[in-house]
Amino acid sequence: MGVTAPLRREHQELLPHIEALCAVAEAAEGDRDTLVKALDDTLTFLERHLIPHAQAEDAVLYPKVEQVMRAPGATATMRRDHEEVVELTRRLRRLRDGLTGPPSSGPLSSEQRRGLQRLLYGLHAVVRLHFAKEEEVYLPLLDAELTAEDAAAMFQAMHGSASLPS
Ligand SMILES: [Fe+2]
Ligand SMILES: [Fe+2]
Repeated sequence: MGVTAPLRREHQELLPHIEALCAVAEAAEGDRDTLVKALDDTLTFLERHLIPHAQAEDAVLYPKVEQVMRAPGATATMRRDHEEVVELTRRLRRLRDGLTGPPSSGPLSSEQRRGLQRLLYGLHAVVRLHFAKEEEVYLPLLDAELTAEDAAAMFQAMHGSASLPS
């Protein structure tokens, strides 16, 4: 196990929630109340766990990757993935809030259903690929270059930087 094992473990904890995005997309075919409940759980996960995880990476992990690569700006493409997750989450929040305004009962319109499904499947694909890139490209670099003390200090800084929304 390399020094970045704690981050791999964190991803393992987040991953079942990422996989659940597809089940929520399928729930858009069914009962409105069940769907709203599933969307609320999904949004809690995205807004309170996944996005703070990404913010901690932006603040601490990615600067460390750039330092190890001796390549300032090398993580810009990955930061852009994080911005995409924030934007897709914002749009999902808007669609979910629209489900409890009038008309707030009965089946979803096909436009609502398709909009939700597009966002949920999109988030699933973006985040899965993003995790794979971090684990397959960045973490091996850090495993090769960081001492156990460097890594411990980095994870402590990441936990200190994770700003949870109020
Ligand atoms: Fe990330
Ligand atoms: Fe990550």
